[in-house]
Amino acid sequence: LLNSDKKWLGTPIEMLRRMPQCGQPLPHLRASDSHKVLIRTDLLKEGEVPVPYPSKFRDAWDDITVKMPCSEKNLFPVENEDGSVVQSRWELIRSALENGCKSSLDIRDAILSYNTAHAKRWDFTALNVLCTDGLEHSEVQYLFDVILPEMVKLALSAPKICTQPIPLLKQNMNQSLTMSQEQIACLLANAFFCTFPRRNSRKSEYSNYPEINFYRLFEGSSPRKIEKLKTLLCYFRRVTTSKPTGLVTFTRQSLNSFSKWESSATQLTRLHITYEGTIEDQGYGMLQVDFANRMVGGGVTGLGLVQEEIRFLINPELIVSRLFTEALDHNECLIITGTEQYSKYSGYAESYKWKDNHKDETPRDEWQRRCTEIVALDALKYRHFMEQFHPDKITRELNKAYCGFVRHGVNSQYLSAIATGNWGCGAFGGDTRLKALLQIMAAAEAGRDVAYFTFGDAELMRDVHDLHTFLTDRHITVGTLYGLLKQYFNVVCKNSHSQRPDVSLYGFIYEQISSDPLPEPSPGPSSSS
Ligand code: AR6
Repeated sequence: LLNSDKKWLGTPIEMLRRMPQCGQPLPHLRASDSHKVLIRTDLLKEGEVPVPYPSKFRDAWDDITVKMPCSEKNLFPVENEDGSVVQSRWELIRSALENGCKSSLDIRDAILSYNTAHAKRWDFTALNVLCTDGLEHSEVQYLFDVILPEMVKLALSAPKICTQPIPLLKQNMNQSLTMSQEQIACLLANAFFCTFPRRNSRKSEYSNYPEINFYRLFEGSSPRKIEKLKTLLCYFRRVTTSKPTGLVTFTRQSLNSFSKWESSATQLTRLHITYEGTIEDQGYGMLQVDFANRMVGGGVTGLGLVQEEIRFLINPELIVSRLFTEALDHNECLIITGTEQYSKYSGYAESYKWKDNHKDETPRDEWQRRCTEIVALDALKYRHFMEQFHPDKITRELNKAYCGFVRHGVNSQYLSAIATGNWGCGAFGGDTRLKALLQIMAAAEAGRDVAYFTFGDAELMRDVHDLHTFLTDRHITVGTLYGLLKQYFNVVCKNSHSQRPDVSLYGFIYEQISSDPLPEPSPGPSSSS
């Protein structure tokens, strides 16, 4: 084949490491100060629904844990002849939901009965349209006869299933949280029925957290909402038909020191690059990048429907991270291990369609987690193209990617490759060629190979591959590259009079390295004889 006909370039994908084959045996699952585990680890058994720990609901109502709808502190004021008294909101939720829902209007009335402050503002058009036009008559019947009653049961079992206070993963914390897929399903059923207290207003104590209650999913008449609801109802049908038996771990990783990019002597790692396939399909077993918002999940419960939102819809267990993950800071990421894919989709953004049920065959690890590791990384959003070449921005993106890729204390031979693509280059307006290079540098620094999916862009595939080959042939280090990026900003960007640089980044790099009279020192121990 001619180079121009190739669908992929670089290292064959079969040569890149994937989990579970590449991993180290896991230590015993054990709770600690930095790792909360919401189930009985001693009873964990393949194929069985994990047992919640502790056995009885432990109530907490403070600023370090999630405020649960079933807390006895979840109260609302009512007026009676003795003046103002308070009542249990959970009791109200129970009676509203146990009443049964025969139509989308009943769902609306139930939800509004315990969210009265929002009755005027919340709109349920999308839910109505789904039930009148979006589904077959028999599907609507099944929804109201079977799925919704089961979802109600699941939501109302929160005090039995989610017994342990859920820690908030706040900024600057290095903290893990492991829970069962059943516990997640219960929390998501509560999110569907909008039961989480203090989460419905942007000005509340949770203003620095993503939205969790699903009310925005029901509003408006965009066809996007119909497809989103279909995707989520597929998930709820599955988890209410047969209880999932695995665990999922959420880890907030917050670094307080970063490598000095300028002086890094690290060589680039291997690159597989292709314009076909997606991160989620061809990147199985690799560390898969979620092109995230600092509020993880971005617009998943609203209108958003690009890479992150789609991933959260087909792997809905990701959505529960919105319940407890504070906005990501520049030095932070969220790593989610063990989520399952429940749906297949087609299209993207405006053309997104729920396609079918998906049976996830990904093997489980010793902790009964699917070997699917996803890292939420929020790129910077650029309004002006030139901004992103500023050294401060470059360092920020390198650090962010490095935070997502590095695993302190794990030898790189045990680390899977990174499955990524045009991170920050869609909704966030970044330049694909710059971002590809930055991710390659951060991956090298973290000691991991890269599988890069250009999402249909064959020219980008060739450009990135050619540059990577040129750089590795000449043993160019991460530090040298960082210096060249700085130079590019000072020499080209600062002096460009248009909106875009006059000289392309890759052209500049080729030029500088080719004209450099000093050969790079050759790598490896052989040179130090
Ligand atoms: N596999 C590989 N590449 C993909 C895939 C996929 N499944 N899907 C999309 N791409 P974007 P951003 C490519 O815009 O710019 C969300 O609302 C495709 O080329 O989702 O980082 C978040 O919540 C696409 O143009 O990421 C944030 O708010 C490119 O990846 C915001 O968007 C970028 O996808 C993040 O925007």
